[in-house]
Amino acid sequence: MVCCVRCSKGFKICCVTAILLFILLATLLLVLFFTVFKPKDPDIILQHVKLQGFKLELPTLNLNVSLGIVVTVENPNHGSFTYQNSTAYLYHGETLVAEAPLHEDTIPARRDHNITTSLSIFADITKLKGLSTDYSRGVINFTSSVTLLGKVKVVNLFKMKATSYCTCYISLFVPYKSIDSICNSKIKL
Ligand SMILES: *[C@@H]1O[C@H](CO)[C@@H](O)[C@H](O)[C@H]1NC(C)=O
Ligand SMILES: *[C@@H]1O[C@H](CO)[C@@H](O)[C@H](O)[C@H]1NC(C)=O
Ligand SMILES: *[C@@H]1O[C@H](CO)[C@@H](O)[C@H](O)[C@H]1NC(C)=O
Ligand SMILES: *[C@@H]1O[C@H](CO)[C@@H](O)[C@H](O)[C@H]1NC(C)=O
Repeated sequence: MVCCVRCSKGFKICCVTAILLFILLATLLLVLFFTVFKPKDPDIILQHVKLQGFKLELPTLNLNVSLGIVVTVENPNHGSFTYQNSTAYLYHGETLVAEAPLHEDTIPARRDHNITTSLSIFADITKLKGLSTDYSRGVINFTSSVTLLGKVKVVNLFKMKATSYCTCYISLFVPYKSIDSICNSKIKL
């Protein structure tokens, strides 16, 4: 529109040019929005789930499991994701059995990032439905869920609020003291 003021003679041409420029810019922003901002869901891989301790106290039937967890987050997006302090929850069936703190952090754009935390499961197994059956079968299944609130930032230019939801299905193989897991994650702007 600045252009229109300057060119008094070719006022119409100038305005048309300005409008075309505006449309071009709008298209560019739209394309940018759909390519850069359209978030792809990050991949979450549980690395090094280390069983630090496993104890079933027999008279009391208290289960005490400590897990050292390293999670690798593969961020396929052009934006980095900075999240606030959060908590990961671990469920056996419907029952909450453990919590793990997640410290605020930034996952850089198009990079892998490791998150380390420690999880202590401490539960009275008489209150966990089906645990003794699982235990005698040698496999105990857990579900873990975490919600991360944060911001997506693209090259210091665009900032947007975003929420990341992650769910993991974890199987603990009691005789081998080993862990298997599958994780799904979704990011929403
Ligand atoms: C659970 O086990 C850890 C070590 O494996 C131990 O330090 C902790 O005291 C135990 N917790 C309870 C409540 O027994
Ligand atoms: C996040 O947690 C750490 C300790 O784990 C604390 O020092 C920090 O102040 C917390 N940040 C916020 C924004 O609450
Ligand atoms: C994350 O941890 C894995 C396994 O310990 C390691 O191979 C990888 O290099 C680490 N990645 C980063 C970005 O630190
Ligand atoms: C535990 O999870 C594994 C893999 O997700 C599944 O194949 C198995 O049936 C589950 N076991 C029980 C007892 O739910």
